[in-house]
Amino acid sequence: MSKKLTIGLFGFGVVGQGLHDIIKTKNLNIEIVKICIKDGSKKRTLPAELFTTDKEELLNNPEINTIVELINDTEAAFEIVSRALSTGRNVVSASKKMIATHLDELINLQHQYGTSLLYEGAVCGSIPIIRNLEEYYDNELLHSICGIFNGSSNYILSKGFIEGLDYASALKQAQDLGFAETDPISDVGGFDAKYKLVIAAAHAYGVVVKPEEVFNLGIQSLSAYDLQYAREKNLKIKLVPVAKELDDRHVALFVLPKFVNETEFLYNVEYEYNGVIVQAAFADQQFFFGKGAGGHPTGSAVLSDIAALRYDYQYEYKKAKAKKDLKFTNDIEINIYLRYEDDDLVDELGFEYIHERYYSGNYKFVIGKINLQKLIDNQHRISDKAFIAFADQLKGVSLAESKKQALEVL
Ligand code: HSE
Repeated sequence: MSKKLTIGLFGFGVVGQGLHDIIKTKNLNIEIVKICIKDGSKKRTLPAELFTTDKEELLNNPEINTIVELINDTEAAFEIVSRALSTGRNVVSASKKMIATHLDELINLQHQYGTSLLYEGAVCGSIPIIRNLEEYYDNELLHSICGIFNGSSNYILSKGFIEGLDYASALKQAQDLGFAETDPISDVGGFDAKYKLVIAAAHAYGVVVKPEEVFNLGIQSLSAYDLQYAREKNLKIKLVPVAKELDDRHVALFVLPKFVNETEFLYNVEYEYNGVIVQAAFADQQFFFGKGAGGHPTGSAVLSDIAALRYDYQYEYKKAKAKKDLKFTNDIEINIYLRYEDDDLVDELGFEYIHERYYSGNYKFVIGKINLQKLIDNQHRISDKAFIAFADQLKGVSLAESKKQALEVL
């Protein structure tokens, strides 16, 4: 028999309301005792006595045995979650930035107090990826995980590519639909995808990496030239986080736009949908697909976690215990497309191989192989006048070979 959960809910925004809509259709032995909100003057759809603006009314309430944290403020969320975990409450959270930033401390708190923190809703909305990485792939070597982890940026890309809608209007729509973060740079700059990647990597590889160590570039400087280039080659551009095991000692993580061709799973992941590709040693390639943003899809993942807490489910972070030697690295060679204005940037980046170099009017690009660390070292030079995407389907040739080919053409 499952235990009764008495919930203190923090936040009643898009996801909080989505969760409430779903809970009321079920008979799960779950009761929402109190909801803490920031703005007490806002008109709500539920009786006023259910709401409070005082977090202590939830955190000090002995009738509440479970905290569900769905707020926007990272540091306030960390305070709520850590207090709840250290006072014997199990917690469900969807705050990806907070979890990625404080993952080490949150794992320690759970071990110290024997409490459980679940966060399926924090990574790719409705897609059940964390519990799968944690449980299903427990004994399977994972070569890589990558995908589309941010609904808003994918929505903007789809609106532009399929419907020809301009960037600002598409972003406005993503905001109106409740997909976007308060600061949209978190979505379009690849930060939100990075937080989700960091969380997923902890469960896939047992590495806990600080988000600031992971390189991210987004789609904010995507131009009509880049879209045109992709169209001509029958490619699409997607914002893709990657975690890749390089050998049995090293794992690389980064977030970059990527050209995808029509044979790739991510090609058909459009709008607010997310997709996760797991490349496993024996199962081979597997693909998870579902809505990555929005109240009901994310609420469904939060409810799944709440339901798991009725049986005291906990993440065990088994891979962190088992694989102590796996280290995070940025020492990985990637093939990139760089559109640029400043020729010096190409020299500074020090490409190891050049596949193609193009120059016509204002449109200049180079495709070639580069070490990720070079990109990081020169990040301050990459302005909004440059766009970078990784293009692993375009094989590099040596710089010498490329010059030779150019001479032959001449
Ligand atoms: N802003 C996020 C996204 C919300 O667009 O994916 C879901 O985490």
